[in-house]
Amino acid sequence: MNAPFSQNQAKTRSRSRALMEEARRYTPGGVHSSIRRMPVDIVLNRADGAYLWDVDGNRYVDYNAAFAAIILGHSHSGVDQAVAREVQGLDLAGLGTTPHEIALNRTLVTHVPSAEMSLLCNSGSEATYHAVRLARACTGRDHLLKFQGCYHGWHDYLLVNVLSTADKIGTKDPASTGMLPEAIARTSVLDFNDLEGASSALRTRKFAAVILEPIAHNMGCVVGTEPFLRGLRELCNETGTILVFDEVISGFRHGMGGYQAVVGVTPDLTTLGKAMSNGYPCAAIVGKQELMLQFATAGGPVFFAGTHNGHTAGTVAALATIAELENGEIHKQLFDLGDRLCAGLSEVASRVGVPMRVEGYGSVFTPYFVDPDRGPLQNYTQLVQRNDDAKDMQFRLALIERGILVFPGPRRRWCITAAHTRADVDLTLNVAEEVLRTLR
Ligand SMILES: Cc1ncc(COP(=O)(O)O)c(C=O)c1O
Repeated sequence: MNAPFSQNQAKTRSRSRALMEEARRYTPGGVHSSIRRMPVDIVLNRADGAYLWDVDGNRYVDYNAAFAAIILGHSHSGVDQAVAREVQGLDLAGLGTTPHEIALNRTLVTHVPSAEMSLLCNSGSEATYHAVRLARACTGRDHLLKFQGCYHGWHDYLLVNVLSTADKIGTKDPASTGMLPEAIARTSVLDFNDLEGASSALRTRKFAAVILEPIAHNMGCVVGTEPFLRGLRELCNETGTILVFDEVISGFRHGMGGYQAVVGVTPDLTTLGKAMSNGYPCAAIVGKQELMLQFATAGGPVFFAGTHNGHTAGTVAALATIAELENGEIHKQLFDLGDRLCAGLSEVASRVGVPMRVEGYGSVFTPYFVDPDRGPLQNYTQLVQRNDDAKDMQFRLALIERGILVFPGPRRRWCITAAHTRADVDLTLNVAEEVLRTLR
């Protein structure tokens, strides 16, 4: 049984603390993804709609949404029932293909502009890894161009200059030790939205691929401007470089065709994951037929494999999630609610007198603790220079104590799901106001 909760009371977490102690005995740090480390001990054991509960019975309005993987809401009955039904008939075929895989790939090809063909895998990191290898194979070139603050997964190819500290911006900043120096050396990094820099880099050196989040949600919410995205497309055409949009977050969350459909710029390859399957493991690399046919699945020279690729659970979850999104109603609802929350936070901050600029696109947004009148935030460097990280963290930790679960790190995104309601938003605004008053 869950204890009754009060949104405004500091949480008691004795059971969480005891379980985390046990978790740390068996698992380094007690968590299974380094980004899940929390400054407070929270062990979660229930999820429903917009809410998570910890083992002490405390309820949280969830704005982390499993790092944007949950779009319909937690434990969505339509998705869960479809998965439960279909895995009873077929779990993992292992050879050949299945009708579910065919249906999902048909669906991806139908909706995503760059998708002439599609291959399934299990995580966004796998998808971007395959995209890099394919781009290298097809161009015969080694170098990659990425942008400071974008994250494309955990592999050596692209794990540089993600959450760089101010002193590391402009230098090669690998996010892990143990990475191959050759991989680090072959990945160049520019500021997001810097078309001039990209133009000069691409004309100076031959790159296999340019990869970016068209909306950089790993910095919170920084939209790739239309001239930037269009300019990259033209530069890639001109220089024979493969353009990869990493839409692991933006795909399906911001519209059926991802942000590429919104902005009208079609990359050569696209990576998808997260919201596509409402939290079940499923991801995809999609793209131009002439490139995709180079994969070994078609007899080509580029290796592609994965024991669990196309598992019924993830595949059916993706089909059921996309079916829910197809009539556009949920996207409309997400955009309306996102706008309401962004406007509400800006209004509260300005009334209380805390400098804040809320940048959002649809269901993903970030309240930055910056002077709201100093103009738009277009890249990571500006964010690091202008955001009051200490205040941002204080805000987040105080919200968590009051039952509003956001990622406990500065400048990171918040996400809403179709299960969030106006009442959740109003509650969040009340709690945010209470906290902001203490931060003035
Ligand atoms: C834009 C983007 N690409 C790739 C990834 C890696 O995906 P995964 O964690 O499923 O490997 C992430 C994860 O946060 C992401 O945000």
